[in-house]
Amino acid sequence: MTAADPSAMRPRRFAAAGPLKGRIRVPGDKSISHRSLMLSALAVGESRVTGLLEGEDVLATAAAMRAMGADIQRIGAKDGSGSEWLVHGVGVGALLQPETALDMGNSGTSTRLLMGLVASHPITACFVGDASLSKRPMKRVTDPLSLMGAEFTTSPGERLPLMLRGASPAVPIEYRLPVASAQVKSAVLLAGLNTPGITTVIEPVPTRDHSERMLKGFGAELTVEVDSDGTRTIRIRGEAELQPQRIEVPGDPSSAAFFIVAALIVPGSELVIENVGLNATRAGLIDVLRQMGGDITEQNAREVGGEPVADLLVKHSLLKGIEVDPAVVPSMVDEFPVFFVAAALAEGRTTTTGLDELRVKESDRLAVMATALTAVGARVQESEDGLIIDGTGGEALAGGNKAAIATHLDHRIAMSMAVAGLASKGGVEVDDVRPIATSFPAFEALLDGCTA
Ligand code: S3P
Repeated sequence: MTAADPSAMRPRRFAAAGPLKGRIRVPGDKSISHRSLMLSALAVGESRVTGLLEGEDVLATAAAMRAMGADIQRIGAKDGSGSEWLVHGVGVGALLQPETALDMGNSGTSTRLLMGLVASHPITACFVGDASLSKRPMKRVTDPLSLMGAEFTTSPGERLPLMLRGASPAVPIEYRLPVASAQVKSAVLLAGLNTPGITTVIEPVPTRDHSERMLKGFGAELTVEVDSDGTRTIRIRGEAELQPQRIEVPGDPSSAAFFIVAALIVPGSELVIENVGLNATRAGLIDVLRQMGGDITEQNAREVGGEPVADLLVKHSLLKGIEVDPAVVPSMVDEFPVFFVAAALAEGRTTTTGLDELRVKESDRLAVMATALTAVGARVQESEDGLIIDGTGGEALAGGNKAAIATHLDHRIAMSMAVAGLASKGGVEVDDVRPIATSFPAFEALLDGCTA
């Protein structure tokens, strides 16, 4: 049964809850987990990954890398704290022809990054996905990868399912990103790994830099130059040889976000969220919530797997509405659905702009969140590129929605509206919690545990 099968939908009501208390640990970072499997699968020898996110999206990446020749196994961690993953890679340039279509499920990151890898290998691969992924734009990656010599047969609108024939040898390009997208940047850099010469990506607006960090960590020759106006020029030398690594994946700030907001808006909460990745290209939500008066303290700051990490102590706070600077959007692009919930409980008006990209995520997150929050009593206006929200000033939302919130196969909508339910009088019913397993399988158990 797939997540697209409506007969199998799993609705749930999230009731008003008492304070969030105690200490929790969120799962491994999704972006870093995908990249750790992909690069390990290209490094000859044994890599070991701990803290990997074992969500459906990352498992789709693992299955695809296996289908292209890598040996990937999950074993119990020696210290009993979780699992460890062993990967024996094939080497850059040695990916095998997959025998069947690569099923990407709901995962845009798997799709776009793997298209980059396949694009410079002499193989052909068919990419398929669920109903949500099949609506998402792929032209943003087929454009640069075509310039490198890859060939595509896509479904109408340059969408999945699509067939990709890799180029051998591929042609190095200099590519200026037309959208602020780490996935597009990463697709070109990963294609550059097996392309002779130097592949260059110019990034006018900085986006998450996990690919650059990890490529360097695996021994690729990669440089980053930053101009006075912040434009980043990233160069990678192709036909690289990657060295196997040990990787510890830090906790995902995008998963922590749901608990940060929940603790801020539910009165009496005092919650510690351990091991949260705080890479500056991902930490925008915390900065913005602090500007709104959110009481968030970093404890035990350290480095995990080459990324800054801390435990976060979050206390209930009366938030004040804010005009969010569109420059921060890439550093909190996945956090807006739950940020809108925080804004709905704040005092005064919160205005967001520059959020066009939210319309092409797992769902149209502006339209879907505007409808969802309105249904539970929030005051929301939708503009072309953002939402304007007039908050309750800390008072619980009405909730008690008769028709379940439509989550459109979008995990972050389901989790955001679960958080809204905690801060509502009548609870919030969502139509389907299954998509949560794509990024955060333990979400419900953790939430139920810290509100008990
Ligand atoms: C991701 C990049 C972002 C983000 C996605 C993960 C990544 O997408 O929304 O969840 O791992 O590179 P875009 O690059 O399309 O903005």
